[in-house]
Amino acid sequence: MKLVFLGPPGAGKGTQAARICEKLEIPHISTGDMLRSAIAKGTPTGLKAKSYVESGGLVPDEVLIEMVRERLHEADCTNGYLLDGFPRTVHQAEALNEISAPERVVNVYVADEKLLDRLTGRRVCRSCANTFHISALENDKVCPDCGGELYQRKDDSPETITNRLNVYHSQTAPLIDFYTALNTLVTVDGDQTPDRVTSAILTALGC
Ligand code: AP5
Ligand code: MG
Repeated sequence: MKLVFLGPPGAGKGTQAARICEKLEIPHISTGDMLRSAIAKGTPTGLKAKSYVESGGLVPDEVLIEMVRERLHEADCTNGYLLDGFPRTVHQAEALNEISAPERVVNVYVADEKLLDRLTGRRVCRSCANTFHISALENDKVCPDCGGELYQRKDDSPETITNRLNVYHSQTAPLIDFYTALNTLVTVDGDQTPDRVTSAILTALGC
């Protein structure tokens, strides 16, 4: 199945994508994770992307479209993919339709006022990349899944989160109409427990 997860920062796209990909046996392609890895390695893409990612702006379309085009041509995408965080502009969505059009787009809806707490409290594991909220952690430095070191993303500061939300509403939310017109959009309430959100997504996908 070819899937896209759409939704504001902190909606739970990454949390849910990990679960759905395991179930459907398709690769989880998070453009945010790819960019953070490129920045950490200092690759040419990472150098171009760094200032945009750290300020909460969008990395230029051409950089993202090329990165996703290459990734979707890899062998593990023959049975489908789950794109998390791409497309984020109408131009990216038009390009994706030409590369490999998604069959379903899952819009994970959470109201803005819930997102600030989710994002300022997020911790990510450096080893296994799993994501947690501090309210569910006994020790906010150690990953409960693998014992790795937990860290806070640079763009999870209150000022940068505000910018990311503004960017989402002005540049990415128009994709809701774009995919509604193509009859591929399903909207799921992301403001429930993670298990309930997973069930709602699987039901919406007919799985
Ligand atoms: P990206 O990494 O994609 O960030 P984002 O869209 O801002 O989304 P997040 O990863 O912050 O949130 P999420 O929805 O994955 O939530 P999560 O599951 O972690 O992009 C980062 C940057 O890269 C962008 O700002 C941009 O600069 C650049 N970029 C990436 N793609 C691009 C593109 N296509 N074009 C241009 N630039 C691009 O959960 C969040 C928190 O909530 C966690 O603490 C989690 O534990 C908690 N949580 C999850 N589910 C629940 C629940 N059901 N109830 C309560 N808490 C929950
Ligand atoms: Mg994410």
